[in-house]
Amino acid sequence: MLNLLELLASFLLFLLPFFFLLFFINRNSPSKNSSKLPRSYPLIGSSLAIFANRNRVNPWFAEILRNTPTGSFVLHRFLGVRRIFTANPINVQHILKNQFHLYPKGESFRTTLSDFLGAGIFNADDNNWKFQRQISSHEFNTRSLRKFVETVVETQLSNRLLPILSTAAAEKSVLDLQDILQRFAFDNICLISFGFDPKYLLPSLPSAAFAIAFDDALRISSERFAALLPVIWKIKRALDIGSEKKLRLAVSKVREFAENIVGEKKQELKEKSSLETVDLLSRILNSGHLDESFVTDMVISFILAGRDTTSAALTWFFWLVSGNPNAEKEILKEIRERPEAPVYDEVKDMVYTHAALCESMRLYPPVPFDGKEAAGDDVLPDGIVVKKGERVVYHPYAMGRMEGLWGPDWPEYRPERWLERDLSAGKWSFVGRDSYTYPVFHAGPRICLGKEMAFLQMKRVVAGVLRRFRVVPATEEGFEPVFISYLTSKMKGGFPVRIEERGDCDLKVNA
Ligand code: HEM
Repeated sequence: MLNLLELLASFLLFLLPFFFLLFFINRNSPSKNSSKLPRSYPLIGSSLAIFANRNRVNPWFAEILRNTPTGSFVLHRFLGVRRIFTANPINVQHILKNQFHLYPKGESFRTTLSDFLGAGIFNADDNNWKFQRQISSHEFNTRSLRKFVETVVETQLSNRLLPILSTAAAEKSVLDLQDILQRFAFDNICLISFGFDPKYLLPSLPSAAFAIAFDDALRISSERFAALLPVIWKIKRALDIGSEKKLRLAVSKVREFAENIVGEKKQELKEKSSLETVDLLSRILNSGHLDESFVTDMVISFILAGRDTTSAALTWFFWLVSGNPNAEKEILKEIRERPEAPVYDEVKDMVYTHAALCESMRLYPPVPFDGKEAAGDDVLPDGIVVKKGERVVYHPYAMGRMEGLWGPDWPEYRPERWLERDLSAGKWSFVGRDSYTYPVFHAGPRICLGKEMAFLQMKRVVAGVLRRFRVVPATEEGFEPVFISYLTSKMKGGFPVRIEERGDCDLKVNA
């Protein structure tokens, strides 16, 4: 092992002067950060441009893709590795639906995430995926969703989220809304999927070792994808050093937490012989799947699905709405046409709010990019050649910023682009886009299972919060939040806000 390390180190040392030279040339070349394709050099490919743009990967890819003729390009990585990026809906339909079997998640993806996600649904292909998809889908039928919005979300909202905002308003304190929303989403997903209440959103905002470990595990696992060579993180893992040691410790805390949830449910199962509750975990255990490690993997994937997605979407939504009084006015109008605690159908029917959420996720998608590994040679509909084993990455963040897809006003936050006004009835109706042009929830056979649940939760939260409060960013004039992503996206450094109670005059103005 040491010989191999020495060999690798000598090789890299030998290349170092060339790297510096090329980095210098690259830095002074006009193509730096520009819309042109990144420069590629023998052996190192576009590693210098990748390094130069490492802190702005999503905007960088969006700039490149916006300026290619077909909305796709090939990124040359270290040692001749090619990665195909696309923002072309026809390619997206090809990989996610028409040629679904040719584009699984693939072995390299699975290996990279297996320490964290094990064999959970986000890291599964073939029969393992099918089984998890089938058993989980019951969780998302209309009866379960109705129960979700009318019991779990409603209780969490009125007993936890709103009182915390009310106190912040009274004390004029600054809150990190992103953190609050993440806590809210975490309690929600645990309650609905596992029938377990972690009580993470409490007025004391308890620090939870689990949540910190989960963030670390997610960040370090996704950073593995950016490694110059996968062998580097594999060696660090074998030696148990640096970030890989941190990952091992974080994963063991996450697993311990998930194992406790599974253990408690199993105990319940023993005592009652068959669980009466209908949460996902009970269903898995009732199906006879008692391999604890596999069930733990499923639990971890579900926490990932439910915790970081809706909280990211809502964080950007509140940021965008705070700077768009017209959109806020329309949302308020819609909220006030409904009772204070709207039931399932009333939430479902919030058309303008639905459009406002779609629009914020167009600009800031919770999952900004996602890749598949070709199981055989192929040619994409726009002519790009794909070789077996290469990754094809579709990029919702870039796609939401393509003039060809959204028009020249794509940078504007404009919920109306999703709506039509029915003049006779004086009402809005929602005009969706196909899931290949807007693959924010993925598309095809693996389309997000929680899409409807996510919208219900987000719309109910928006209605509950904006009816009573104004969310005011506690940031300096001209502040621009930074979009970062580790599989799922976040606002860098959190979203500091002040909460203000809406007064009577606010009600009249906006009624
Ligand atoms: C705004 C909120 C959400 C967005 C934007 C979103 C987006 C996505 C995306 C892009 C995928 C594909 C990921 C991949 O295969 O790599 C996915 C899959 C999935 N999502 Fe969501 N999601 C959201 C909320 C939720 C919620 C609340 C749940 C509930 C637990 C959920 C459950 C799932 C599941 C189980 C899958 C795996 C589907 C499969 O592989 O067959 N999602 N979601």
